[in-house]
Amino acid sequence: MEFNQVAGGLVVRAPAKLNLFLDVGKLREDGYHPIDSIFQAISLCDELEFIPVATEGIQLIEEGIAAGRENIVYKAAALLQREVGGRFPSGVRITLKKSIPAGAGLGGGSSDAAATLIALRKLWGLEVSPGRLCELGVELGSDVPFFFSGGTARCQGRGEITTPLDDLFEPAGTLHFVLVCPAIEVSTRKVFEAFDQSDPNPYMALTPPTGIDSILQSSFIEGFYSGELLFNRLETVACDLFAELAEIKGLLAAEGFRGFLMSGSGSTFFGLCDNADAASSMVDCLKGKVPLGTRVLTAMSVPGWSANIGP
Ligand code: C5P
Repeated sequence: MEFNQVAGGLVVRAPAKLNLFLDVGKLREDGYHPIDSIFQAISLCDELEFIPVATEGIQLIEEGIAAGRENIVYKAAALLQREVGGRFPSGVRITLKKSIPAGAGLGGGSSDAAATLIALRKLWGLEVSPGRLCELGVELGSDVPFFFSGGTARCQGRGEITTPLDDLFEPAGTLHFVLVCPAIEVSTRKVFEAFDQSDPNPYMALTPPTGIDSILQSSFIEGFYSGELLFNRLETVACDLFAELAEIKGLLAAEGFRGFLMSGSGSTFFGLCDNADAASSMVDCLKGKVPLGTRVLTAMSVPGWSANIGP
């Protein structure tokens, strides 16, 4: 996540994520599922501009139009405002430029929410500790805490317990991906509900012995070659729900990627390539073959940014 000062305000580039591994356990009493996952921040970013204005209140503009209060960016700003006693030092105009597709398993909304909490705290030097900011993030969504530090991280609990893994993955260098984003928005809740109905129950035990712990004992490359990495417990369920996802999975299987996987609860699939040139060639190959409206683009892994958050 990058923060740049502009005439009295801040511009933030808020990255998307991919799940390089995602295992899911049995539904908890609180309505969430335990997960064990490896999140990877990538170079595809939304951009948010935060400008203090004289008019009180939070204005959110997306593509030139005032966005509603149900937008997660608005919710994040309003939550922080409540946290500091209901008033910010001035009004704020937030302009959101989306590049990360919604309902795509890329964490775009969660990243925007984290960016909003961090940026508004920075803008006015608000006295909210990083730990408390993270708690506010969890209220907004399970994936939000990951975006406080980014990079590569293991995410557990319902997603909010994050452990950085950058050191472990560093020897693999920059990872190059091709993202295939179909024009369908997938509801995370619906995929999890379908997962609960799936029969027979393959998901009672979270991360069996061949799961994430053995990946963490090896390297990214070993985990990848052993087939332990690039696993997503929700992939079959999502492909059963949406025929287009199954179609895209078939296309990726035929293209000779190093590996490929669905991210999160879908709808994005990603393929792993050896380098940037290979990723560009794959994009050219896939563009004529994917269903109408599908975006095909390259992205790279990006390192963590916890140092940018400030005290
Ligand atoms: O946390 P978030 O608001 O992103 O989650 C959206 C929905 O996805 C939840 O209401 C829940 O139904 C489902 N979910 C889940 N287990 C998780 C994360 C999300 O069941 N670990």
